Amino acid sequence: MSFDLIVRNATLPHKGSGWDIALTGGKIAAVERAITAEAARVIDAHGLLVSPPFVDIHFHMDATLSLGLPRLNQSGTLLEGIALWGELKPLLTPEAVAERALRYCDLAVSQGLLAIRSHVDICDDRLTAVDALLDVKRKIAPYIDLQLVAFPQDGYLRAPSAAKNLERALDKGVDIVGGIPHFERTMEEGSRSVELLCDIAVERGLMVDMHCDETDDPMSRHIETLTAETQRLGLQGRVTGSHLTSMHSMDNYYVSKLLPLMAEAGVHAVANPLINIVLQGRHDTYPKRRGLTRIAEMRAQGINVALGHDCVMDPWYSLGSGDMLDVAHMAVHVGQLTSREAMRYCFEAVTTNAAKVMGLESYGVDVGCNGDLVVLQAADPIEAIRLKARRLYVVRRGKVIAESAPQTTRLDLPGRPGEVDPAGYAPSGSSS
Ligand code: FE2
Repeated sequence: MSFDLIVRNATLPHKGSGWDIALTGGKIAAVERAITAEAARVIDAHGLLVSPPFVDIHFHMDATLSLGLPRLNQSGTLLEGIALWGELKPLLTPEAVAERALRYCDLAVSQGLLAIRSHVDICDDRLTAVDALLDVKRKIAPYIDLQLVAFPQDGYLRAPSAAKNLERALDKGVDIVGGIPHFERTMEEGSRSVELLCDIAVERGLMVDMHCDETDDPMSRHIETLTAETQRLGLQGRVTGSHLTSMHSMDNYYVSKLLPLMAEAGVHAVANPLINIVLQGRHDTYPKRRGLTRIAEMRAQGINVALGHDCVMDPWYSLGSGDMLDVAHMAVHVGQLTSREAMRYCFEAVTTNAAKVMGLESYGVDVGCNGDLVVLQAADPIEAIRLKARRLYVVRRGKVIAESAPQTTRLDLPGRPGEVDPAGYAPSGSSS
């Protein structure tokens, strides 16, 4: 028996060390202790971590890499970001949106990021970004699974043509119903928008993913309505509340009632630590609130929590590199998720948990799953986060689609010649 690819001596996040993985016909054919068969290509993982690909569950591909167009965000706030995006929107062309998105996708592949859920703003009557990203989705399908969310950035009820445009975008093939209840004119209209959008999801048999309560206002409680609608309409497992930053500032007693309701309704939660640590708390003096929802508490209630990158070099965030380990690293810090198992959970939040939110089928390093994996220059998930480990090989459907040389640095120190391995704690190597 000959396989297309065998990865030998792998450490798997959920199974530990010493595994060989055989891939053929785009699928994982075997995961065993010692595979004796031949393969067209063999990679020795040398005991390093082999993970399923990274999944970014919350992104804005229509805005990515637009930093500085037409100007920079001076206040650093969410609201100036929205206003700035509003200035850029009329200037967008399908070609420019697609060119930036494709450039970002190249970066994503190099980072082992092979599944992305992107919101796409539908509040442009031309639906420029919708058409561009639908085209991008087709183009990148061989190497990235892209889901698109119809996102009414300027408010579903607040923007005059948002309702009509949202339906048009879904008709064109956008996958998921979005929303932004905290940006509607009143709390009541926010709630109403959640109800109307959930009804659309039921009618069309789609999933829902709303920007929900991305504010420091503890009274922004649209997640409560989203949860109740999920329950009422039987949408369990198909609804996601993204950002949920108001939960950071909510009264503890109220949260103790809210979280079990979210768990009961099977609502997924998405935190975006990189972006919200810079956007939230901007109106505070000191102490400044941290812009992260309650990850540990939701997890303890059995709510599925995933992490998103949200933005890379756009009106809201001027940094980012498509690295989901950077996202997990920030979550560990801002959420104080520093126990060994909490750090492992952060790795799951950018892989398996996010895949669950997307509803990805055949995801994972198991027999019968798609032949998609990443060999990381790290011994385990915690080390991967600590080092933001290099992706040595990125494999899609059994074929290597990106490769990097291991990271090492040659030192020339008096009496201490050698190389620094990023995984090591001190210079190592021969000093003879
Ligand atoms: Fe977002």
